[in-house]
Amino acid sequence: MKTAEESSVTLLAIESSCDETAAAVVRDGRRILSDIIYSQIKTHTLYGGVVPEIASRQHVEKISICVRRALDEAGLSLADMDGVAVTCGPGLVGALLVGVSFAKAAAYSVGLPLIGVHHIDGHISALYLEKPELQPPFLCLVASGGHSHLVLVRDYGIYEILGQTRDDAAGEAFDKVARALGLPYPGGPSIDRAAAEGDPHAYDFPQAKIDGASYDFSFSGLKSAVLNELNRCQMSGESVRTADIAASFQRAVVEVLVEHLTRAAEEFGMKTVAIAGGVASNSCLRRTAEEACGERGLTFICPGPRLCTDNAAMIGSAGYYAYIRGVRSDLSLNAQPNLPLGTRERRYHANLKGGVSA
Ligand SMILES: Nc1ncnc2c1ncn2[C@@H]1O[C@H](COP(=O)(O)OP(=O)(O)OP(=O)(O)O)[C@@H](O)[C@H]1O
Ligand SMILES: [Mg+2]
Repeated sequence: MKTAEESSVTLLAIESSCDETAAAVVRDGRRILSDIIYSQIKTHTLYGGVVPEIASRQHVEKISICVRRALDEAGLSLADMDGVAVTCGPGLVGALLVGVSFAKAAAYSVGLPLIGVHHIDGHISALYLEKPELQPPFLCLVASGGHSHLVLVRDYGIYEILGQTRDDAAGEAFDKVARALGLPYPGGPSIDRAAAEGDPHAYDFPQAKIDGASYDFSFSGLKSAVLNELNRCQMSGESVRTADIAASFQRAVVEVLVEHLTRAAEEFGMKTVAIAGGVASNSCLRRTAEEACGERGLTFICPGPRLCTDNAAMIGSAGYYAYIRGVRSDLSLNAQPNLPLGTRERRYHANLKGGVSA
């Protein structure tokens, strides 16, 4: 087994947890040699959201060509790899199974080590690709379609979850509110665009505070407030001010996220603060978090939009840090739709179904 000091480690990485089929070749967890993403957004837009069965079928259609392109663009063959990293949870079970099965077959065919990776470990590790000098500890807000986690990154793959959503994830709230406003899927970018034309102070939508769990989030009350306003407009025959509602909703989400982030940075003495996940593409969140960090003398990091959304390069980075610790999955590795992220003491690898050794 190679260690980080001995020589470089090149991993093939595969991601298929939701509606992107992605493969990448990543060297030493920090250098992207290739990064291929087949997005299914166009297909799912027809239905206003991800249809799991269709997602799985499209992954099956695209996975071989996606991996082939990733290797070709890196100018390497499967046999040149040091291992195969794959997202094994959380996510849609049928979608995950496509990536996991393909990765197992690829690893077995040339005798490579296999490394199961947690999807959120991937989103956080995208930061190592964005900023090659970044090292833990730091504070990270992961805001995506299924998660709103405020995480203390103690070390590579060692996470302490300070807070999480009680109901809707931030991205889910964007998607649901966009749908109610008649804006196209995915809702986050649609609201971001609509909000640019609106007044963020037109409405004072509620921002939930949760007693006794001060870093948790709740977005369902905010979503209901938007729906109530839409109903009120409909009943009274008023026209809906879409841009103003989008801007005010976005402000309410962003203010809560940034308030939690800066308060936690202060309480835990973190000098570096990051955001990751699909919602980290939001222009208002990026701007507001950057300003708030600047005012407090904190270093702020945010991946570029391509690294915020689902991709395989981030899985290659997370896989690398597991690989150099000696983590290996065996061929009984399985898809785990509800895989927990682990805790400060316990890496998620201990919870993987499929004999992991370190
Ligand atoms: N500019 C934006 N503003 C707000 N939200 C956005 C923006 N761009 C994307 N999103 C949201 O990000 C989410 C997609 O992010 P991501 O691909 O990380 O989620 P996922 O992989 O489906 O969920 P998870 O990572 O929790 O498993 C969607 O909910 C989408 O609306
Ligand atoms: Mg994701």
